[in-house]
Amino acid sequence: MSISWGPQHPFFAATIQLDQDLISYPWTAQQWLATSLPTYAVFHSSVGSELQGFALYQLSEFEKLAHLLKIAIAPEQRGGGEARKFWETQVLTLRARGFERVYLEVAVNNGRAIGFYRKLGFKLLHEAKSFYKDGQSAFTMELAI
Ligand SMILES: CC(C)(COP(=O)(O)OP(=O)(O)OC[C@H]1O[C@@H](n2cnc3c(N)ncnc32)[C@H](O)[C@@H]1OP(=O)(O)O)[C@@H](O)C(=O)NCCC(=O)NCCS
Repeated sequence: MSISWGPQHPFFAATIQLDQDLISYPWTAQQWLATSLPTYAVFHSSVGSELQGFALYQLSEFEKLAHLLKIAIAPEQRGGGEARKFWETQVLTLRARGFERVYLEVAVNNGRAIGFYRKLGFKLLHEAKSFYKDGQSAFTMELAI
């Protein structure tokens, strides 16, 4: 039986730590607690018991839309196709659950992530000015899965 997502999950604390370490706009513990709700989906990439990466989605079943809120993998796992493999497992699960589109925002200065999303087939929708709390703008992107 798989353990449901929330504070009791063995990767819960490690996921919050990776968010702090690897993502520009990390969430508070309070925000992470809210991801226990069924309107979120969290995926993990691990080697044994060591967490190497995670992806967090907010789900709109009505719109068949999965909003990719965060994705990160450890620096030593980057550049070798691991992120794409991790993404492909997410798509299989999302499709099986009936989702048809993935939407995301990405900071305009995050060239690496933008390059990664383009490689996966994401199309640029528009630029959201001053999207982040520090005034940084974001590109919105979308992909039919
Ligand atoms: C986003 C992330 C998961 C992608 O994984 P990755 O292994 O780095 O991705 P890849 O190396 O497969 O792809 C990145 C692409 O962008 C290119 N790239 C790298 N740096 C770049 C830059 N500064 N500007 C433009 N493109 C860049 C790479 O060359 C690569 O394309 P290529 O394979 O055609 O050469 C990973 O970089 C990561 O965890 N980043 C930190 C967290 C983050 O920023 N997440 C996104 C916002 S939540």
